Amino acid sequence: MNQNWIAPSILSADFARLGEEVVNVLTSGADVVHFDVMDNHYVPNLTIGPLVCEALRKHGVTAPIDVHLMVKPVDRIIPDFAKAGASYITFHPEASEHVDRTLGLIRDSGCKAGLVFNPATPLDVLEYTLEKVDMILLMSVNPGFGGQKFIPYVLEKARKVSQIIKASGRDIRLEIDGGVGPGNIREIAEAGVDTFVAGSAVFGAAKTSDPNHYDSIIKALRDELAQAKSPQQKSGSCCHGSHD
Ligand code: DX5
Ligand code: ZN
Repeated sequence: MNQNWIAPSILSADFARLGEEVVNVLTSGADVVHFDVMDNHYVPNLTIGPLVCEALRKHGVTAPIDVHLMVKPVDRIIPDFAKAGASYITFHPEASEHVDRTLGLIRDSGCKAGLVFNPATPLDVLEYTLEKVDMILLMSVNPGFGGQKFIPYVLEKARKVSQIIKASGRDIRLEIDGGVGPGNIREIAEAGVDTFVAGSAVFGAAKTSDPNHYDSIIKALRDELAQAKSPQQKSGSCCHGSHD
């Protein structure tokens, strides 16, 4: 797999043709399927559940499915998503009464576990949870809807989390979600992010002239990522060698 993962959010796909949309976006070069689960309680919107995840697997989707739970409570639904074929399951710590237990439940169900931080949510829960975390997802919009504007102060938060991950020496992915597109993905990568959710920027850029409809937009995102400078290059302490 690529080092940087592009994770189209199917929230912005055509739900009437979901299987075809997901196959197209993956064949166009995306790495991961970002699967937004909303309950009209934790967030003011209602989307899809385990049945749809299972349907994508039955349709032949083999790429990782990154289930982003915007539901409260969370524990009841976790085994269902694991059975339905989820690869990663992430949740918002404020939606669980027992964060450590929920992380353990996700891993015991055979999935990778992640925590999601809303733009204004502090990171203190990471102090005691890093060893049970495979992914940290930073929201760069308030959750609930696609098509919102990227909140710039989250870049500073990403730099901070990137440092925390590096210092831990653990294999933890740093993902960002909301308002990501070709105009800002490079800067976001330079802040240390390696997994990029993009909904409207990807599914809103379908081209019937592209063989798989999304080849151009995925390439545009990938080209921007290829130009991102590593932290050393940015600080001027390094001036040669390749990075990716
Ligand atoms: C928002 C969701 C996002 C959303 C991103 O609550 O978690 O995944 O679909 O959409 P864009 O990329 O359009 O901001
Ligand atoms: Zn999401």
